[in-house]
Amino acid sequence: MVDNNVLVRVDNLVKHFPITRGILQKQVGAVRAVDDVSFEVRRGETLGLVGESGCGKSTTGRAILQLYRPTSGSVNFDGVDLVKLKGEDLRKMRRKMQMIFQDPYASLDPRMTVGQIISEPLIVHNVVSESEANERVKQLLELVRLNPAFSTRYPHEFSGGQRQRVGIARALALQPSFIVCDEPISALDVSVQAQVVNLLEELQKQFNLTYLFIAHDLSMVRHISDRVAVMYLGVVVELTTRNELYSNPLHPYSQALLSAVPVPDPVIEATRKRPPTRHQVVASVHAARLRKPCARKADLNSVK
Ligand SMILES: Nc1ncnc2c1ncn2[C@@H]1O[C@H](COP(=O)(O)OP(=O)(O)OP(=O)(O)O)[C@@H](O)[C@H]1O
Ligand SMILES: [Mg+2]
Repeated sequence: MVDNNVLVRVDNLVKHFPITRGILQKQVGAVRAVDDVSFEVRRGETLGLVGESGCGKSTTGRAILQLYRPTSGSVNFDGVDLVKLKGEDLRKMRRKMQMIFQDPYASLDPRMTVGQIISEPLIVHNVVSESEANERVKQLLELVRLNPAFSTRYPHEFSGGQRQRVGIARALALQPSFIVCDEPISALDVSVQAQVVNLLEELQKQFNLTYLFIAHDLSMVRHISDRVAVMYLGVVVELTTRNELYSNPLHPYSQALLSAVPVPDPVIEATRKRPPTRHQVVASVHAARLRKPCARKADLNSVK
């Protein structure tokens, strides 16, 4: 059944990277980066995707946008299965989905001016002529609270937070409805993290944007997410509303992630419950994998 409230529906998404060996590059195994992930992102919401380094968060984001073609599974975007699309059809759909990257320094071409960077998608997709592009660049820079006169500057002339604003302006250029924010604040100084999160929230309201917000710890997604999916070893082990997750995390790995967030009170911090051991977590995740992913059932609690 098609649910109009759902913008993106991911079903049994799998992405394996081949491990090859020898001159003939024979495949000897596979990195199971994403291993059967299913979830929905509703229109206008922010779904947080959290998990430790290497658990497959970026691969999930990229596989949704078809920057990596999934090994199997489907990605339904606004009623269209992206996995089945190719060529021009896929290119047209790509305009509606964008990505903001973790490291704005690495993701912005240092040889291009900020104006060229932001207008590139507009010109590639033939949306505007070159003269109209200049006008649009100015509007976009204002939208992300940067001085429009900065369009002739190069990325190295900006601070980290300003560079990330340029990345956001570029992502907004084609007026997308869905943005994968891949750790957009992790590389930034703590003092500017909140500013960038606030900007993303304001833009979301203004343009009714839907976000998949990737982060490696729960403190970063707490403020912005409506719901949070916790990922571990390529699978989603728990998916629930933000308040539920923070007040009553069911899965041992979610509990471990939550207990890693420091409490700024030494008395409370000293009396906090110990997180589960790694052995307990691995054993319970393997047991949980045999059940339906994303299930938020009390019986996950009984897994020791
Ligand atoms: N292009 C690739 N080729 C081969 N293996 C890859 C590729 N991209 C990712 N992987 C592997 O897939 C797994 C998941 O990687 P991914 O980048 O999705 O993790 P992540 O959760 O985003 O981690 P981080 O928090 O460090 O960004 C890792 O083991 C990684 O080494
Ligand atoms: Mg990543």
